[in-house]
Amino acid sequence: MLLVMPIEIRPPREDEQERVNFVVAYSFTGDRTAAGREHMRHVEDMAPALCLYDGGELMAALRVYPLRMSVNGAMIGMGGVSSVSCLPEQRRKGHVGRLLRQALSDMRAAGRPLAALYTPHPSLYRKFGWMTASGNLKYTWKPKSVAPYNSAPAAGRAQRLREEEWPLLAGVYARFAAGRTGYIERPERWWKEAVYRVLYDPERKLNDVAAWMDGDAAGGYMTYSSQRERRGPGGEVHTFFIREFIALTSSAYVGLLRFALSHDLADEIGWHGPLDDPLALAVDDAQQVKREWVDDYMLRVVDVEQAIGARPPALGAPEGAFTIEIADAAAPWNQGAWRIECAGGKLSAQKAAGPGDLATDAATFAAIYGGFLRSTDAARCGLAEAGNHEAALLADRILASDYAPYGSDFF
Ligand SMILES: CC(C)(COP(=O)(O)OP(=O)(O)OC[C@H]1O[C@@H](n2cnc3c(N)ncnc32)[C@H](O)[C@@H]1OP(=O)(O)O)[C@@H](O)C(=O)NCCC(=O)NCCS
Repeated sequence: MLLVMPIEIRPPREDEQERVNFVVAYSFTGDRTAAGREHMRHVEDMAPALCLYDGGELMAALRVYPLRMSVNGAMIGMGGVSSVSCLPEQRRKGHVGRLLRQALSDMRAAGRPLAALYTPHPSLYRKFGWMTASGNLKYTWKPKSVAPYNSAPAAGRAQRLREEEWPLLAGVYARFAAGRTGYIERPERWWKEAVYRVLYDPERKLNDVAAWMDGDAAGGYMTYSSQRERRGPGGEVHTFFIREFIALTSSAYVGLLRFALSHDLADEIGWHGPLDDPLALAVDDAQQVKREWVDDYMLRVVDVEQAIGARPPALGAPEGAFTIEIADAAAPWNQGAWRIECAGGKLSAQKAAGPGDLATDAATFAAIYGGFLRSTDAARCGLAEAGNHEAALLADRILASDYAPYGSDFF
């Protein structure tokens, strides 16, 4: 008798982890050997895998980092989806779609009402309810072509910090993230593996870190690395690459900017900074700062009720309610009409009778929820229907993000 083994989706056993490494490393052109797995052991520990087996054979895998991400300052449980991989001979059979659906159900059960990811294939994930919900500007400038407009000496001094001094940075980061959208909560391990180092760098090289100290207090910090790369016939370009630049005070902002400019050998300085950062205006000639828009994380609302309940409304949002009808095939518990109410400075969502004031799909709703897309704009470009324009205007004000959503960490 022929025994047919069904498709099985589950976490890998310990003795299956090596095969997971092979499938992921193969898909991302990484190192598939045992040594390669060792170099990525931190990722294996930090982001458990979910795998699809067909006939007992591993076909596809993904990883989910258990994280929390800020929305208007509130840290909300979020699954950071990464390493999504399928063996090439098994692609376009729906394996990854099955894995994503299961991962959504698992995240909901684990109390993570949001999911985020970074990808070069936005159309794939949009089918499963993710939507681009943040952006950054790639700022590039020549250090010798600008100076800070504020020429007064900045109070304090730059001090390079070692890895053990991460709590100093953590204090600055937490104060900066308060009120903002897209900042992830960083435990000690995250500071060491993903801030002091680049998360997917197998060499685990240390980044440089400098804080701006005013007395004993850190007013800001910059993490950075210096890179040399061959670019065309022009030869080698030396880039001072800022990985994170956070300043709570003007002395930290101007002081750290001057610190970056003082790296004399750099041909250019690069930084993927927030869309609403004042950098170009903080220097004497804004036109010397090249700015290119880059799409950032994609967001998914895993559980509408929990996600709305955890999200603060925009500052000064009016009280009131609107209904929104959401089409969500990949997370059917979200499907249907919801009444979203802003009362007493809090939001709540309850199932309601349709039709809604607004109607849209899960992906568009994610961008609206994250304060990246206004409901009225979604309706204006055909991504939503707004039968009730007043309700759409109310949704715009309630679900706005007080700062431009910004992906503080790649995973
Ligand atoms: C991208 C990848 C994960 C897709 O896996 P897969 O098992 O072939 O995906 P599925 O068959 O489940 O496809 C699900 C849907 O996404 C679509 N899709 C698949 N690959 C896609 C791609 N590269 N770009 C856009 N859409 C894609 C499919 O057409 C399908 O749509 P449908 O349901 O309307 O038919 C796989 O090709 C892979 O491992 N690539 C290399 C690594 C990689 O790029 N990973 C993703 C990084 S974020």
